[in-house]
Amino acid sequence: MTILALETSCDETSAAVVRAGKVLANVVSSQISLHAEYGGVVPELAAREHLKNLLPVAREALHAAGVSPAQLDAVAATQGPGLPNALLVGLKAAQALAFVLERPFVGVNHHEAHLYSPWITGGDDSLAADFANFQPNVSLIVSGGHTLLVLVAAELKHRVLGGTIDDAAGECFDKTGKLMGLPYPAGPVIDRLAEQGNPTAHDFPRPLLHDASDDFSFSGLKTSVRYFLRDHPALLDDRQQVCDLCASVQAAIIEVLVKKTVRAARREGVRCVTASGGVTCNRALRKELERACRQHGLTLRLAEKNLCTDNAAMIGILAERKLRANVPPTPLDEEIKPGWALA
Ligand code: KG4
Ligand code: ZN
Repeated sequence: MTILALETSCDETSAAVVRAGKVLANVVSSQISLHAEYGGVVPELAAREHLKNLLPVAREALHAAGVSPAQLDAVAATQGPGLPNALLVGLKAAQALAFVLERPFVGVNHHEAHLYSPWITGGDDSLAADFANFQPNVSLIVSGGHTLLVLVAAELKHRVLGGTIDDAAGECFDKTGKLMGLPYPAGPVIDRLAEQGNPTAHDFPRPLLHDASDDFSFSGLKTSVRYFLRDHPALLDDRQQVCDLCASVQAAIIEVLVKKTVRAARREGVRCVTASGGVTCNRALRKELERACRQHGLTLRLAEKNLCTDNAAMIGILAERKLRANVPPTPLDEEIKPGWALA
């Protein structure tokens, strides 16, 4: 089965071609530089940029895969959650293509797709999804918009354990970075500066760390950084002090993410932890998850860095599994679901 998948839920325009669990092509056009001058994603600009980029990106993916539209067996797209006008571009294009080709269309939940991105592994010339080694797992999804812990009991079978009650982890990186005068998105910058800093220099709060729930909260941490900088404004003039601050903020975010993920995995009795989403690019988070999982005898599967951030490969891989499992295709007149929460 050959599938073209489109992803336009936020600020990445992506198209992928998958066949029999293999990613034949995965093209991603990021809008980061466009939104950087505004300090965050501007929804209307994102939608217009998707309109401009979608066809060239899709053409490039088909070309790289050596597949013509007529050879497609199905078309998939992210249906939600995401920015409404951004979602509309990919969903309506995919539905129109499915209509013309008279092929099934699959509308995919973006977060459900993230659950499978850690199973897409580096192959020789293309990426293959490693479903043969699939294990029940607790999956951490951490991005600029979301922080979710999900129990994935089996393929296509999952239950949300918890999520953020305010800011997402990536948002916390970006907003505290903004307070420090760092460019958007601040996550990768903090990652680099923290490497030269002392993570125990400042003791920031670890919100909900000892709370019995699997929920997260990061806005209090951001506020405490704001007050800290109000009281120590000169600190930003000293590079080493900025590095120490970055390392300390990062350590607080990571400790909460790692401890709560491992605790949930042990409580649920799974032996595997997975992680994906833009924040999973963070090197200290990857290292700390590795250390904690090793300590507790858990297998860890981290999404490869280019598949941590938003991509259509994970949309296509999930769409194919759904069609193979006889999940009915999505009607061509179904609308976007901007607030589609994972159950
Ligand atoms: O998944 P993603 O590309 O987009 C969505 O939000 O859906 O995630 C982007 C987020 C941003 O908040 C960015 O600062 C964060 O991921 N991020 C990082 C790193 N790379 C990206 N945060 C910490 N360390 C990184 N290396
Ligand atoms: Zn995402």
